[in-house]
Amino acid sequence: MDHYVVFGNPIAHSKSPLIHRLFAEQTGQRLDYSTLLAPLDDFTGAAQKFFHTGSGANVTVPFKEEAFRLADSLTERAQRAGAVNTLRKGLDGRLLGDNTDGAGLVRDLTVNAGVSLQGKRILLLGAGGAVRGALEPLLAEKPQVLVIANRTVEKAEQLAHEFADLGPVFPSGFDWLEESVDLIINATSASLAGELPPISPSLIKPGHTVCYDMMYGKEPTPFCRWATEHGAVLVLDGLGMLAEQAAEAFYLWRGVRPLTAPVLAELRRLLASA
Ligand code: ATR
Repeated sequence: MDHYVVFGNPIAHSKSPLIHRLFAEQTGQRLDYSTLLAPLDDFTGAAQKFFHTGSGANVTVPFKEEAFRLADSLTERAQRAGAVNTLRKGLDGRLLGDNTDGAGLVRDLTVNAGVSLQGKRILLLGAGGAVRGALEPLLAEKPQVLVIANRTVEKAEQLAHEFADLGPVFPSGFDWLEESVDLIINATSASLAGELPPISPSLIKPGHTVCYDMMYGKEPTPFCRWATEHGAVLVLDGLGMLAEQAAEAFYLWRGVRPLTAPVLAELRRLLASA
């Protein structure tokens, strides 16, 4: 039986073991998947030990950059993200590092929600690791323009500069933005504090603009509530992205792409009853 884990600290409440167990059942794959609490000061030691016998791992906060450094080779999207959320051990024992977060976001938007990104005006809020991971897959969809807006403008400028070769990406501060866009993606961690980035409601064209929060919770996030109040045509939270990034990882490990809809329905049901 092949062994997989998700590394993090904290990690006890991760939904990944449930998601991968459901994927394995659905596809008839024999594997086990559990959480692995790595010490904050020794992710590398914990990972090296696990991979004596383990086949693959997901990596979450705060170890994605360390996993990036640990990998022997990287996919293009992981290289661009500067972070790794999925490791796969090859037959030669070498570790491939991938980052499936951005692909999960794009798949949730384009496949699950049916929102085409081609030719669209996209606004990304935030300039941390979540945005860095999303930029390559988002730009691959050929938007008309992608604006990165952040509280600390210098970070948005740095990212826009780094990704400029992949498409029309521009930095901004929050209070410079007024004109409506087609899609707003909240990738700040403001929701964790029950806050909302200080953005103008005029960014939403009622009945047209789609709003996506990478965060999720039992109740709608502050950003999702704001989007609904101001007439967004579609308001989505990050639970679909969670399921999709997991499906991408499962595909990388097993060569089989699981259906996410039944798993997402189960996650939604558990979240509602939590
Ligand atoms: P992650 O890896 O989840 O992206 P991060 O790298 O810590 O986390 O980045 C958090 C992002 O949320 C940053 O863009 C941060 O803005 P700053 O770069 O100015 O710090 C943003 N953020 C956090 N709290 C916020 C708030 N209350 N309002 C607006 N932006 C916020």
